[in-house]
Amino acid sequence: MTHTPTLQMLLSGLVSLADHAAHARRVLDDNAWAYFAGGAADELTLHANNDAWSRISLLPRVLRPLAGGHTRVPLLGRTLAHPILLAPVAYQRMAHPDGEIATALAAAALEAGLVLSTQSSTPLEDVAQAFGDAPGRGPLWFQLYLQHDRGFNRELVQRVERVGYEALVLTVDAPCSGARDRERRAGFRLPPGISAVNLAGLPPAPQPPLQTGQSALFDALLQHAPTWDDIAWLQSITRLPVLLKGILHPDDARQAAALQVAGVIVSNHGGRTLDTTPTTVAVLPDITDAVQGALPVLVDGGIRRGTDVLKAMALGASAVLVGRPYVYGLANAGAHGVAHVLRLLRDELEIAMALTGCRTLADAGPDLLQASP
Ligand code: FNR
Ligand code: LAC
Repeated sequence: MTHTPTLQMLLSGLVSLADHAAHARRVLDDNAWAYFAGGAADELTLHANNDAWSRISLLPRVLRPLAGGHTRVPLLGRTLAHPILLAPVAYQRMAHPDGEIATALAAAALEAGLVLSTQSSTPLEDVAQAFGDAPGRGPLWFQLYLQHDRGFNRELVQRVERVGYEALVLTVDAPCSGARDRERRAGFRLPPGISAVNLAGLPPAPQPPLQTGQSALFDALLQHAPTWDDIAWLQSITRLPVLLKGILHPDDARQAAALQVAGVIVSNHGGRTLDTTPTTVAVLPDITDAVQGALPVLVDGGIRRGTDVLKAMALGASAVLVGRPYVYGLANAGAHGVAHVLRLLRDELEIAMALTGCRTLADAGPDLLQASP
């Protein structure tokens, strides 16, 4: 007789984000796994992101008073229960039939911020409704991929505003997709019934025939890729704060600050766009230096432990985002799985704070860190 494990049995066997990843490998088919787990080219950045956090050591302080400690942080005029947000990840119905709805329910329950992808497989209105408006829930942001049609972009932003998203996260590190060798080897295709539903109705891009010697990338696809000039335009059509996601160079961070964006997210897109970039750990200190507190700096890429979250905060991040780990939780057990991943990470963060002598995250500074030999 086959025996279907109950949710409790399943989750009790999974005690870390790595356990969730290993289990998700068995749950997801090869097609979905290539998409969710893969990175660009040789996946050097993908792996380096994970390793980089482990290569920093925490130097704990002892005997400090810890009573009344908490993980609360200020961000964009709000107080968050903790600094963990769910990064935008496209096509979540490929991980679980409940997709982005399950993610939203879990994020709301665990007081995590949620950044919904433009390429979500569930309408942005339905996700906002599932996320709800309970007191204490985290921020709800919308990740924007600007499309070639300005009218469409404007209408998309209006939809986002209408249903209560609180910020726009413009992703700037993916004007085109990376060289996704793993996806190509797997022959990756979106399964029937899964698509970027928020982009339904987008008129096709005008495609004048290429002349001899022209590039399909530069002379067609990238014709409409956003540039710095579009930031001011975007700010002019919305009342929402605009953050830029995918910043790695301190000069780009300075330029973002000069344009008065609301924040930057230090990210290499989880190693999915350009391979062989620096890790986000490596550039985070330069970026926080460059902007000098003028705007919040968030970070993602390879965060898999509460200790990683604490290290990011000690390096000056205002908050962190996680991508793949919650998608693996989603694949494993729907909303319960996402909630479980968030619970594990929150608990680990609290333990890491207690064991390093940090009563609050404001106590975490560079003196907590040592580069490992
Ligand atoms: C992403 N990411 C992403 N980013 C974005 O701005 N828009 C998107 O639609 C997506 N889609 C997406 C799909 C998948 C399958 C992954 C794994 C990632 C990048 C994501 O927001 C984030 O930057 C990284 O996932 C962070 O790295 P970790 O936590 O996955 O290591
Ligand atoms: C990705 C895109 C959707 O990383 O951002 O797959």
